[in-house]
Amino acid sequence: MGTTNKKFTPIAVELEKDKKYSWCSCSHSSNQPLCDGSHRAKKASPPITFVAEESRKAYLCTCKLTKNPPFCDGSHKM
Ligand code: FES
Repeated sequence: MGTTNKKFTPIAVELEKDKKYSWCSCSHSSNQPLCDGSHRAKKASPPITFVAEESRKAYLCTCKLTKNPPFCDGSHKM
């Protein structure tokens, strides 16, 4: 499987239309791919908040290298 690190594959989340989410951008959260507030103690980057435009399954990035946060763009495979 090449150099892909399975630890950092995206996590599928069932987004609900109009619901607000906080995507962890610092990687310290224990609730990946979403924020659990750990960035405060770690003085790390805050989450990126977004509102789901529609109800759908979305693959959210856990490697934090995506160029299209919060969504996986395949960067974890690089
Ligand atoms: S998990 Fe796929 S780009 Fe980060």
